[in-house]
Parts: sequence; structure tokens; C-alpha cells
Amino acid sequence: MQVIRSPIRLRSLVRRYKMRGEKVGFVPTMGALHEGHLTLVRRARRECDQVVVSIFVNPLQFGPREDYRRYPRVFSQDRALLQKEKVDLLFFPSAKTMVPGRFCASVDVGPVAEPLCGKFRPGHFRGVATVCAKLFNIVQPELVYFGQKDYQQTKVIAELLRDLDFDIQMKVIPTVREKDGLAMSSRNRYLSDEERKKALSLSQALIFGKKRIRDGERDPKKILLHMRALLRENEVRRMDYVSVVDPETLKPVPRIRGIVLLAIAAWVGKTRLIDNCLVRV
Ligand code: PAJ
Repeated sequence: MQVIRSPIRLRSLVRRYKMRGEKVGFVPTMGALHEGHLTLVRRARRECDQVVVSIFVNPLQFGPREDYRRYPRVFSQDRALLQKEKVDLLFFPSAKTMVPGRFCASVDVGPVAEPLCGKFRPGHFRGVATVCAKLFNIVQPELVYFGQKDYQQTKVIAELLRDLDFDIQMKVIPTVREKDGLAMSSRNRYLSDEERKKALSLSQALIFGKKRIRDGERDPKKILLHMRALLRENEVRRMDYVSVVDPETLKPVPRIRGIVLLAIAAWVGKTRLIDNCLVRV
């Protein structure tokens, strides 16, 4: 595995692969890798000739009061994990290379970026879409891999690819969880033992909501009431949102039918966690 810091160098290597007719798969990450990330990498490894992974903690997607500085940076561990997965290129650019002083352009993807996390993290999805557009232009892969854990992000990227005519196919991989159900996340590293127990209530609330729907409940209000109560019982009191939304528009549904997305963003201590699940009626 080669570690590449320069976009120009990365591009010239990828160009070489493409001249040989090889299929290039790309997994963008912010590092602090876990089994969730590695599952995306393994899928790419199975489906592509060359696998490129990026590690870049993107300043554009963090708000001024968010955890950009604190975000875990464990490059040597990450490098070792990716080497084991037989990744071909690890793109590890500096913040200066990716976001130099005179950086001005940005990508605004419109309505899917507005509800849910968009409401609580203004500018977040613009930062995500902008850095992904940059990364896609540098790497120029045929396939990109994203996790369902960040459901709204997959919608934002789908709009980006479609509306700006990127010749890239996106694959969305189901959320990878710890044995007890907690969705894997780089931010789980922030949790104390006690917080880790409380954090479990996010996935439990989703399971509970799903069960209520399976048992025939069709009123989102009633389901949400119980999901919120379950979180509160576990001392998760600060909830950015607990919602039942249309999986395409991400807008709240008045009544449950077809497929819906149950989505939660809540704070456990100083850590903001998200989780979601799709339920088909
Ligand atoms: P990061 O949080 O590092 O996640 C990188 C990719 O791993 C994303 O597609 C995310 O959805 C996926 N992922 C994270 N946890 C997962 C889990 N438990 N199961 C399955 N997939 C999981 O998302 C970002 O970075 C950034 O926003 C990025 C796209 C790199 C742009 O900066």
C-alpha cells in the first residue's frame, strides 16, 4: 500500500490504472477506522481492481463549536488496518493542500441537506459535498462506497453525483454494529463506560420503534413519544431529533406506509451520536 499526500501524484497513479482498464473503487473517510469503515473497504476490495481510501478530517464540515480539534487522529493505527485489507492507495492529504487560504467555492445540494442533521449542523452538508466533490475529482473512481449509518449523507452525495454529472456509481453499505447493537462510530471513542451504556438506548429506541410499526402502529407521533421516553429513561435527554421521515425527501411523514426512515441524533454527555433504520410496512 502506498501512502500518497499529493493530489497530483494520486491522480497520475490512478490515470495509470485506468489506462490498463482497471476499475477503481474509492472509500472516503476521516480516519479513526473501525469495522464499519473496514466493511466498506472490503466491499471495494471484492468489487474493484484498485482500492483507494482517503483519510482526511475535513474542517469544512465542522461547525465552530464542534469537535474538529478533538476528532481522533490515529494515523499509524489506521494505516496498519488498511494495509491488512490490501488497500492499494491511501490518500492522506494535509488540511493546507485540501483547504488552502484562498478557498472559496462550495457545493450546495439543496433540500435533502436541510432537515435532520442539516438543521442542527448548519453548513455541515455543504462541507461534506464540497470535500467529496474535490476528492471525487482527484481520485476519479468508478465506484464510491458510503455507509447507511450516515443516511442523510448518502442522499446528499446521490444528489451531488446526479446533478453535477459525476460519472461515478455509489454503493451504500448497511450499518455495522457492535454485538449489543450500538452503531460503530469514530466518536464512540469519546464515551466513558457509563456513557457507552446510555448510548445503547439509541439503537434500542430504533428497534422499539420498528417493532411498534411491525405490530401495526401507523401514527408516527405515538411511536416517537415512546422512543423519546426510552431515551430519557436512559438519561439521554438532549435529543436533536427523533423522527419518522420519508427516506427520499427526509421530511416527516404524517402516517406510516411504504418505507419510512426512523432517525435519531442525540447527545450522550458531550458526544453527539446518530443512528437510523429503514422500516418497510
Ligand atoms: P467517516 O465518519 O469517517 O465515515 C466514512 C464512511 O464510513 C462513511 O460513508 C460512513 O457512513 C461510513 N461508516 C461510518 N460508520 C459506519 C458503520 N457503523 N457502518 C457502516 N458504515 C459506516 O462520513 C465521513 O467520514 C465524512 O463525512 C466523509 C464522507 C469522509 C467526508 O468528509
